[in-house]
Amino acid sequence: MNTATKVIAFANNKGGSGKSTTCSNVGYALALGGYRVLLVDADMQQNLSLSFFGEEEVLAFSESGENLFTAIKDECDVRPFIRKTAYENLSLLPSGILMSGAEFELYGKKNMEKTLARVLEGVRASGEYDFILLDSPPTLGMLVMNIMCASDYLLIPIEASPWGLFGLANMLDFFGKAQEINKKLSLLGIAVTKADERKGYFRQTMEFLSELENVNVFKNYIRIDSAVEWAQDNSQPVLAYKKSSRSAKEYLEMTKEMLEYVNR
Ligand SMILES: Nc1ncnc2c1ncn2[C@@H]1O[C@H](COP(=O)(O)OP(=O)(O)OP(=O)(O)O)[C@@H](O)[C@H]1O
Ligand SMILES: [Mg+2]
Repeated sequence: MNTATKVIAFANNKGGSGKSTTCSNVGYALALGGYRVLLVDADMQQNLSLSFFGEEEVLAFSESGENLFTAIKDECDVRPFIRKTAYENLSLLPSGILMSGAEFELYGKKNMEKTLARVLEGVRASGEYDFILLDSPPTLGMLVMNIMCASDYLLIPIEASPWGLFGLANMLDFFGKAQEINKKLSLLGIAVTKADERKGYFRQTMEFLSELENVNVFKNYIRIDSAVEWAQDNSQPVLAYKKSSRSAKEYLEMTKEMLEYVNR
């Protein structure tokens, strides 16, 4: 296996497609497998941070300025802002509410698309982590362009619904533009989430996705499971909250499948 740090972006401009849930659970599953993982919350909603810390702590990350927004604004090393989670091998770089102004901060910077790559360079080059996973906001602007320009792989979580598919073409188009700037970026695949196998639309979605050319669709998908929401209410990934739950098992399988691609 190649030992260099691998950076994976979780992005989709469709809101609520399972980006933060997938990022937190894949991150936890990788850490469970002995990989050293850094999760980076790049969304002002702070959902990835809330997956591991309680509301008060997350608000404090925001108010103290010890978060990714400050690093982007000041172009400083992110390492002082990294927090250890309650789990072995798993750390988090929190976001802050001011991340909503990240676009404004980015515009006007020299080589602006690579700002995030620059501020992550220290931690990446340190070799301290095997994986850095970046959770994105549901947009396709300069911040998400930065996320893709700081990554080796893009993973697109998609909700198996009609509106979940709408916008995929834009997303793939945007990925193509990012690839022009970041030549090493590749599409790891599409991860289907919130699947309801009883619905005909689910089968239609899978069929549609399987017909896309040059796009890997993970065979393991994540079905609707209320344990996901209970886990989030408890600031835990579902794999830590209830490892016997259906979604916990599915996230483990999906992570194994991802590792096969990444380690090829
Ligand atoms: N497998 C699942 N079963 C049930 N609910 C789920 C599942 N996965 C995600 N959810 C719920 O769906 C909602 C959206 O998920 P999530 O926040 O991960 O999406 P997102 O793409 O990060 O959203 P945003 O675009 O707002 O950042 C959340 O309320 C989450 O609890
Ligand atoms: Mg999210």
